[in-house]
Amino acid sequence: MNSFFLTTPIYYVNAKPHLGHAYTTIVADAVIRFHKMLGEDTFFLTGTDEHGDKIMRAAEQQGRSPQEFVDEISASFHDLWPLLGIRHDRFIRTTDLEHRRAVQAFLQRVYDAGDIYFGEFGGHYCYGCERFYTEKELENGLCPQHKTRLEFISEKNYFFKMSRYLPWLKDHIEKHENFIRPHRYRTEVLAMLESGELEDLCISRPKTRLQWGIELPFDNAYVCYVWFDALINYISALGWPNGPDCASRWPGEHLVAKDILKPHAVFWPTMLKAAGLPVYRHLNVHGYWLVRDTKMSKSLGNVIDPLETGRRFGLDAFRYFLLREMRFGEDASFSEDALISRINADLANDLGNLFSRVLSMAAKYFASRVPEPSVLMREDEAVAELCLHSLQNFIQLFGNAQFDTALESLWETVRALNKYVDSQAPWALHKRGDTARLATVMHMLLTAMRKTALCLWPAMPDAAGRMLEQLGSPAAGNAPPVYDLQRESGAFDGLAPGTIVAETSNIFPRIDVKREPSGNVKKAKN
Ligand code: MSP
Repeated sequence: MNSFFLTTPIYYVNAKPHLGHAYTTIVADAVIRFHKMLGEDTFFLTGTDEHGDKIMRAAEQQGRSPQEFVDEISASFHDLWPLLGIRHDRFIRTTDLEHRRAVQAFLQRVYDAGDIYFGEFGGHYCYGCERFYTEKELENGLCPQHKTRLEFISEKNYFFKMSRYLPWLKDHIEKHENFIRPHRYRTEVLAMLESGELEDLCISRPKTRLQWGIELPFDNAYVCYVWFDALINYISALGWPNGPDCASRWPGEHLVAKDILKPHAVFWPTMLKAAGLPVYRHLNVHGYWLVRDTKMSKSLGNVIDPLETGRRFGLDAFRYFLLREMRFGEDASFSEDALISRINADLANDLGNLFSRVLSMAAKYFASRVPEPSVLMREDEAVAELCLHSLQNFIQLFGNAQFDTALESLWETVRALNKYVDSQAPWALHKRGDTARLATVMHMLLTAMRKTALCLWPAMPDAAGRMLEQLGSPAAGNAPPVYDLQRESGAFDGLAPGTIVAETSNIFPRIDVKREPSGNVKKAKN
């Protein structure tokens, strides 16, 4: 059995989770579910990043001890995920003892190999980014991310000889087209590597300045730089260096947003190489969710609460929206208007309507039993072909991190099925008493609907489960999978004649909106 290991970033615990964190974790959950349906042995890792100045300062501001502070915020991430339908296999915290041990073992290994040295360093330090910037990288003297004026710090520190591995990294990226995807980020990283701006990496902080970190195994006057510590979570969670899971599950893939491209595309692969470990398979990079054209941030007060939004509009609809609306790799805008339009157009009108009209016709004409098809006509064959084709497309696109296009491809079938209902007019066949033809049309529709519902399980596990149940198929369980997507895309089958289906369906009710004079959208009661 193929194994598939996927990670999200481990989130900083200086603030509570918002839509941005939820997006990455929901996408990861959907990808994991998709791979389960391909019959793979999946492992899904997420967690929290708990060391460093930023966290220390946030705790200080609240007059609390760092440990007490991180325990509380880490729990808010840990407890949120199941409420968003997310099922991870492991939640790692960088304050876990096994993680701290793994980081020390990693540092020692790289140190023993001669890739860590002691030297003097000066740079513009950004506490928000937890990193030094060179003069060249500043924008008008300000941090390019946070737009704040930076402090110049000079001190003695330990360095990782990253520059030694940069030619190897460039070569690896050039040889593996999909190592970093989408392509725009691959291009960005290659440009970074070609610019000559990358140097060795400062990987320590003197304890005189920061205590909240993992002590270097070879110098107890220093703690480890937070990024060096954090990246190692991807293997410490598998029990590296000695745990058996590491050998069977690593290398995996990562999912991150573009804000942390450099540590994942440059620091991490070179660290792995220096430690003699294989590099990850893919780095999947997405853009930002914007609210009124600006990145969501706590300081701007424009953060969207994922739980509240999921509860108001329905969790499955919310998950669908996130996957469908954002072109993976690019920025997308979040607004309730956009969410409501997708719910009404894609879910209520296209998909919900298809289910409700077909099931009520099946009830009326065949007492809710799947009829036996007779001879297929050209238009029936076209429906079967389109359905299988869109399933195959879906599998290819979803597997290639093109989630929006994968769902779009599925909707071609949904819309085509609605048209097929209109053109075949089962009510007219019934009136004419053409039962054989009516049976074929209904059989085609129900079979295609079942295939579509299967593909929706990764994005909308609950709704897809209900759709499958309405079609007399077991709801797709968690693990082991009951459906094999690859096989399903090869044959237009799956619904035995005689199967009992639901009499009605109302999975995605329309949302009626009333506009308040202020322009705010108010959700009317259904
Ligand atoms: N702790 C580091 C990651 C270490 S991984 C070894 C970190 N944490 S973070 O809390 O700032 O999380 C950043 C990640 O949160 C992004 O890469 C992305 O996955 C998610 N997002 C946060 N805000 C986002 C948006 N506005 N839009 C989309 N995703 C965003 O960086």
